[in-house]
Amino acid sequence: MWRTLLLLVIMPVAFAETDNLMPQRKQVLQELLKNDCGACHGLTLKGGLGPPLLPEALAGKSDTMLVDKILHGRTGTAMPAWEKIINVQEAHWLVQYLKKSR
Ligand code: HEC
Repeated sequence: MWRTLLLLVIMPVAFAETDNLMPQRKQVLQELLKNDCGACHGLTLKGGLGPPLLPEALAGKSDTMLVDKILHGRTGTAMPAWEKIINVQEAHWLVQYLKKSR
């Protein structure tokens, strides 16, 4: 009885939570955005060699496509693959973070 109740409480939280990265890791990703991604996408992500990554620019684009570009890069462009240092969950978090106005 209690176990069922506990599951009912925990399950939705576990599934709704795409945002379950450690705070320290989020900070690392935010630094990475500024220092590494910023080198091409602009320090304020307004664009440079790479396209802008601001919420307005990403609004209509699918999360799957954006996550895929972060992880695997884009052949024939300067966009490198980041899968060695960013995992799928982190790439999803980055896309949500970029799409949210700050
Ligand atoms: C060496 C330059 C360079 C670096 C560093 C770089 N990018 Fe890019 N990025 C690009 C270019 C160029 C494109 C455009 C690729 C294309 O034509 O689809 C791009 C495309 C993207 C896109 C797709 C945007 C869209 O509107 O389709 C995302 C998302 C993205 N980059 C995120 C990142 C993130 C996150 C990082 C850091 C972890 C990063 N990029 C680092 C050059 C770079």
